[in-house]
Amino acid sequence: MESFRNKLDKNRIPKHVAIIMDGNGRWAEKHGKARVFGHENGVESVRSVVEGAGEIGVKHLTLYAFSTENWLRPKPEVEALMELLVHAIDNETELLMKNNVRLSTIGDLSKMPVKVKEKLNGCINFLKDNTGLNLILALSYSSKWEIIKAVQNISQDSIEGKIKPEMINDKLFEEYLNTAEIPDPELMIRTSGEFRISNFLLWQIAYSELFFTEKLWPDFRKEDLFEAIFDFQNRERRFGKTREQLTM
Ligand code: FPP
Repeated sequence: MESFRNKLDKNRIPKHVAIIMDGNGRWAEKHGKARVFGHENGVESVRSVVEGAGEIGVKHLTLYAFSTENWLRPKPEVEALMELLVHAIDNETELLMKNNVRLSTIGDLSKMPVKVKEKLNGCINFLKDNTGLNLILALSYSSKWEIIKAVQNISQDSIEGKIKPEMINDKLFEEYLNTAEIPDPELMIRTSGEFRISNFLLWQIAYSELFFTEKLWPDFRKEDLFEAIFDFQNRERRFGKTREQLTM
């Protein structure tokens, strides 16, 4: 079968794609293994998707790797996920470098174990001059946390006289989000057949196209990303306008 990659309009590749990587636990269960086995195999999907996104010229790829709510999972699973992150960084940094990928994070990094923070910072620093894909890992992230944090910082700056309440608008608010400087995702993908947003980029997806697939994350590959982008390119994005206005 012809790859979706060949069907893509090169001039309309989304600048930012966000992915809710879901279904690792169910994938492991299907294979009669512990949940961690699913997370381990999810790393291969991350590798494939990062490579694919870079190849077609996506500028920013945000992956929901660990949510604020994930801290509530059983301690051994949380620890295994943290270990996996450290290993993934150790094993993948060279390939990321080769593929000209930059790394950044969003989320409450202060909650992450010191070892993970050190690894991440080392990797971010090592890749900082790369000019290709910006891989954004959402870690200890939730959208409500991000929005509350923004409100707190806006209030503080207001008390200190740096801003006035009447200056607060969409643009200023966005400067206080973790995603300041990053364009909103045009496309958000969720795997594993769940139809939820789960506290991910709530402000930023105001006009994003949503793509849901039954595939479990460890089965997802770059070809599935190309399929999602092909689907996206065949939708009409109206941003609240009428169809007639779009052609004017
Ligand atoms: C959701 O599946 C997945 C996660 C909470 C973790 C995602 C982590 C990885 C893919 C591996 C490491 C990531 C990087 C960036 C190297 P789930 O456990 O909720 O699955 P379930 O809904 O079937 O239980």
